[in-house]
Amino acid sequence: MAKNIPLNERIILALDVEHPEIAKEWVKKTEAKIGYYKVGLQLFLAGWFDTVDWIIDRGHKVMLDLKFFDIPETVKLAVAQIRDHGVSMATIHGNDPIIRAALTERGDLQLLAVTVLTSFGEEDLRAMGMTQSIADLVYFRAKRALELGCDGVVCSGMEAPRLREGLGDKLILVTPGIRPGANILDGSDDQTRIMTAQKAILGGADHVVVGRPITKADKPLDVISALQDEIAQAVG
Ligand code: C5P
Repeated sequence: MAKNIPLNERIILALDVEHPEIAKEWVKKTEAKIGYYKVGLQLFLAGWFDTVDWIIDRGHKVMLDLKFFDIPETVKLAVAQIRDHGVSMATIHGNDPIIRAALTERGDLQLLAVTVLTSFGEEDLRAMGMTQSIADLVYFRAKRALELGCDGVVCSGMEAPRLREGLGDKLILVTPGIRPGANILDGSDDQTRIMTAQKAILGGADHVVVGRPITKADKPLDVISALQDEIAQAVG
């Protein structure tokens, strides 16, 4: 059973900008089409909760993507700090004690475990001393996150089908690394495990995180419309 997610919440626009005012301009420019925004490290460090609260007060959802990774007690207290701001989803990672500690303070916040960054390829795992394939490691981590009680995971669209099939419908799958076909092979990008929005959604993703394909486009609103058309077709 697919989740009933409104089209304007399928794309989570990554507000990777250096100043809260720029982020607010992006929200004003796109909010007729988009109702979900991702605040990551760059913007959060620039404005702390200012932009987060502002976006939520305007009636939109926020994914706060700070990828908490620290000792359990520190992660738990960090989750407590964000819980009461009305953030919809936040990201953590780590081993079982870290995830368990984070979950104790989540309240209504949906906690997503980062599996393997979409900028990583197989050679990056080898360089970090890991011997598993990305596909196996993502599946292993996602299964563990689900068993521990996480609401969802962040993975690439490439892994989404196996996770959806093996782990069921409940788990929220959020997939960054979205690239329209034309950009895929130009070699100028830091994302490695990339996919189109349509394929990601068809493969079982609930939301796609999209940043630069929209924010660096000549006509961002046209890109959003095209992506939403693709997604609407995928969800039927
Ligand atoms: O600009 P682009 O579309 O590549 O933006 C992707 C966003 O998704 C970035 O903000 C990045 O931090 C985030 N992200 C990711 N891979 C993950 C988790 C988050 O690329 N595993």
